[in-house]
Amino acid sequence: MKTIRKAVFPVAGLGSRFLPATKAQPKEMLPIVDKPLIQYAVEEAVDAGITEMVFITGRNKRAIEDHFDKAYELEAELEAAGKDALLDLVQNVIPKNITCIFIRQSAPLGLGHAVLCARPVVGDEPFAVLLADDFMDVPPGQKGVLAQMTACFAEERASILAVQDVPRAETKQYGIVRASAYKPNLERCEAIVEKPMPEVAPSTLAVVGRYVLTNGIFDFLEGLGKGAGGEIQLTDGIAALMKVEPVLAYRYHGTRYDCGSKLGYLKATVAMGLKHAETGAGFTEYLNMRGH
Ligand code: UTP
Repeated sequence: MKTIRKAVFPVAGLGSRFLPATKAQPKEMLPIVDKPLIQYAVEEAVDAGITEMVFITGRNKRAIEDHFDKAYELEAELEAAGKDALLDLVQNVIPKNITCIFIRQSAPLGLGHAVLCARPVVGDEPFAVLLADDFMDVPPGQKGVLAQMTACFAEERASILAVQDVPRAETKQYGIVRASAYKPNLERCEAIVEKPMPEVAPSTLAVVGRYVLTNGIFDFLEGLGKGAGGEIQLTDGIAALMKVEPVLAYRYHGTRYDCGSKLGYLKATVAMGLKHAETGAGFTEYLNMRGH
């Protein structure tokens, strides 16, 4: 079986929890300090050895396409002004060997439908899915979360879902798996259900926005109807997949911030602001002064 070369970034959601900021731009363009969420996710994919980035875009697609494209006027102006450091920053948003592919999801029918839109480009390979609004921070020296998962895939050759324990009261915000012990930090999935109420959730092990999937998922996504919330759910496709091949749940190393929610976004901003090369010292002093 092949290695993971392609990553799918579904960025066509409505981002309704972040209106009005997401009225004219995808939530994945919201910055954490000075870098948009989608760039952090692409960097995580690059770090995992991925070379083809497949963006599933929606009605507000322009900003993401432009972000990963050449910016002629801006580059010319920065060059003329001798602002070399900024020019370098703008020109190196993405390494030169990376290909970006944009596919339009005609309507936000759900995450499962968004992933299915990538089928013609992914073909018969295993692939990664990254939800950029799940911002993953890892300690210095630690591999990125996707790189942890692709290393695991190289050994296991099975689909892998990133998971973490959540408070039982929050199960209705996640896909929840029932799993059995397999290896350290790795469990075998037996069942998965989308957004169960706490009283019926099979466990508190929640799937977060990083997946490595075999291309077997596509046949199941093709046949899916609407699931939870009236959307075509990736979770339902994975539920069908695990009936015919192993699917593993991986407890990743790192801290996740749910940047699709205002509170998660603010927490990520504080965490990254405190360690950012430019703002770290000043921001720490400011927060200390205010007694935080
Ligand atoms: P979410 O449910 O978190 O995103 O979908 P949303 O719908 O944009 O946000 P809210 O709930 O309205 O605030 C998870 C991911 O799947 C993508 C979203 O962009 C997000 O990254 N998605 C969702 C699609 O690409 N297409 C869809 O039809 C639905």
